[in-house]
Amino acid sequence: MSELYIGLMSGTSLDGIDAALVEFKDDYRVQLIAFEYQPFSDALKNQLAAISDANAIIFLKDYGAMDTQLGHLFADIINTLLSKANIPAAAIKAIGSHGQTIFHDPNSDLPFSLQIGDPNIIAERTGITTIADFRRRDIAAGGQGAPLVPAFHQAVFSHPSEHRCIVNIGGIANITILSNTASEAVIGFDTGAGNILMDQWIQKHRSLNYDAQGAWAKSGNINHELVNQLKQDPYFQLEPAKSTGKEYFSLDWIYQNIKVTDYLAEDIQASLCYLTATTITDAIKKYAPATEQVLICGGGIHNDYLLQLIEENLHCPVSSTELYGIHPDHVEAIAFAWLAKQSLHHLTGNLKEVTGANRNVILGGIYQGK
Ligand SMILES: Nc1ncnc2c1ncn2[C@@H]1O[C@H](COP(=O)(O)OP(=O)(O)O)[C@@H](O)[C@H]1O
Ligand SMILES: [Mg+2]
Repeated sequence: MSELYIGLMSGTSLDGIDAALVEFKDDYRVQLIAFEYQPFSDALKNQLAAISDANAIIFLKDYGAMDTQLGHLFADIINTLLSKANIPAAAIKAIGSHGQTIFHDPNSDLPFSLQIGDPNIIAERTGITTIADFRRRDIAAGGQGAPLVPAFHQAVFSHPSEHRCIVNIGGIANITILSNTASEAVIGFDTGAGNILMDQWIQKHRSLNYDAQGAWAKSGNINHELVNQLKQDPYFQLEPAKSTGKEYFSLDWIYQNIKVTDYLAEDIQASLCYLTATTITDAIKKYAPATEQVLICGGGIHNDYLLQLIEENLHCPVSSTELYGIHPDHVEAIAFAWLAKQSLHHLTGNLKEVTGANRNVILGGIYQGK
């Protein structure tokens, strides 16, 4: 049976909001009907960065106001998406809203992952049933709460005769290893920083939100000694299940690990790009040596230099997810539409082997539409 869902995603990059309206024809076929992207204003981006800074002291009033403001922005983008696509709200089964991560702390004694953007406002203003707060049920079941996209990757990208690896390069990078044997458990985890370190470094030195096409990184020289020093960070040695966030991989992390005055800024950028590329390729070689095809999604695919470094460090073809029907900028938002469908149908959304949960669970809270 065919059903329409909307997925809403805004990731650790703090670049903006992705909204995807999709039709699920059956469990495996997905068709994008419409897509809308709303970049965050610089002012909002700065506010979000301040509120989600690991060392921030936040007033509850500001926190609550941001939750409300984001709820309205999410509702706005959905109403825009629907009016442009000329589809009535009543035709949509549900919205899956990831929310904006303010803090992800899955490993402490009292673990949590906090996403905001009030789903009550989304449901009220769109009239559409909204599912949100996907990560905390997995954490309650003993998991990392992340990554949650591997179940969707498995549903749409797995292949009976090809070993594939899906790499999502957002602020943080995560991989999903899909063996060609359906009975084999999917492996998936955050490999570490995706774009976040490069974004923050170029922001600091050149006041740009990101290194377009990786041109600045490419202008510098990779310092392999420096990269090896950064790779000593214990996160890279940790066995999965594991997940991380921008509270860990940040400008502070760079300063803690590098005496930055010893290097040219562009050489650090080149080295950070190499670090992202090779922590991804190291993970593929270690956990999925049989990989025959790597599919990339997330904003990092637009960084040509990063892609070049990934290709140079692998011995199999590297392609965009577009090769198998989903534009790389749409995958994560569509994944949250899919997770909403799972939950609405009382189906589980996490993969316990990926998140480390003690069981697969139905994710998210449901906020009824009209
Ligand atoms: N043209 C480009 N060149 C290089 N990097 C880009 C380009 N476009 C987007 N990016 C990177 O992609 C990031 C956004 O990716 P996205 O998948 O939305 O991440 P997140 O899920 O963390 O929001 C930007 O912050 C930037 O680092
Ligand atoms: Mg984004």
